[in-house]
Amino acid sequence: MDKFVIKGGTRLKGEVTISGAKNAAVAILPATLLINGVCTIDNLPNISDVKIFCEILTKLGAKITWNTPNEITIDTRNIDCTNAPLEMTSKFRASYYLLGALLGRCGCAEVGIPGGCNLGARPIDQHIKGFEALGAKVDVGQGKISAKVKKLVANSIYMDIVSVGATINVMLASVLAEGTTTIDNAAKEPHIVDVANFLNSMGADIRGAGTDVIKINGVKELSKEGTYSVVPDQIETGTFMLAAVASKGDILIKNCIPEHLDCVTAKILEIGGIVEDLGDSIRVACNKRPNRATVKTLPYPGFPTDLQQPMIPFLTKCHGTSTVEETIYENRFQNIYDTNRMGANIIVKNNKIAKIKG
Ligand code: UD1
Repeated sequence: MDKFVIKGGTRLKGEVTISGAKNAAVAILPATLLINGVCTIDNLPNISDVKIFCEILTKLGAKITWNTPNEITIDTRNIDCTNAPLEMTSKFRASYYLLGALLGRCGCAEVGIPGGCNLGARPIDQHIKGFEALGAKVDVGQGKISAKVKKLVANSIYMDIVSVGATINVMLASVLAEGTTTIDNAAKEPHIVDVANFLNSMGADIRGAGTDVIKINGVKELSKEGTYSVVPDQIETGTFMLAAVASKGDILIKNCIPEHLDCVTAKILEIGGIVEDLGDSIRVACNKRPNRATVKTLPYPGFPTDLQQPMIPFLTKCHGTSTVEETIYENRFQNIYDTNRMGANIIVKNNKIAKIKG
């Protein structure tokens, strides 16, 4: 879809079902390369990143059957690791997971420098540091990243920055390495736990995902078959929660994990909204003009940077002056220019703090 046309002024009411998590799906798909067998992945979100990833896996030799629009069976028995199409891999950020997965599968990987949303400089030094600690030689140049290793050997890796991508990528590269790899200062996002759960369901031995320290005991090989269902999307859930309050609506959000949204729930309660935790669904409502809020983006379990953009327009509707501090990315307030053109009163200081006058 190229454009959305939104007619405002309606209170959102009704039910919505959340899709599988994008950020888990784009890591689980390359993780299937470690399997050398056949597995079925369910609850995949119907999004372009998933389709592109499936095309890339197909070019690498995987055989993919779409059982439904959200479920695929993927056969990774005949993979040629040298075949990743550079022009496709450079189109999106998550293609960096091919590095960890292909290194694990066959000791060599080459991808285009990952693209993705322009949120400022987005280095991948921590990914590279992790691969090198496991024995790989990594080269970056001419628009691509290449990594090679004879044999991956476990190591202890301290992440200088809490990074979702680097944590998952090192986990992928360590699953079949010899010995026990430790990742210290690991990221703890729900999709990291989901990727570890997927790999463990296939015979990997990963412990501590969801905490600061992840230990991966290398195994010789993974199971030859299995099935897995992707966790519900935390960011999609949070977006609907905010939309419910912003429109003074009343929404039942189904197929979600309320505890993944504790930080959003806390904010909504603080500003006067209603949140009911119903186990695998959440009801969110608001019947008055909400109060101002102070928000700071942080790694999980803090307020996700990916919900900062829906949060800001919402705060334009609240009483008083709110502040939002972005601590993850150096350039993630680009939406504010257009929000101001639509009548908002938002001032950004040092590209870090937005002051939103309700
Ligand atoms: C992932 C998510 C993205 C989310 C982000 C932060 C995926 C596919 N994308 O992105 O939606 O916004 O987490 O929750 O899961 N950094 C370095 N060196 C590195 C790696 C990261 O300096 O080697 C910096 C980044 O520039 C950024 C911060 O660390 O400032 C966090 O990045 P990271 O958690 O790695 O984000 P992504 O994995 O790219």
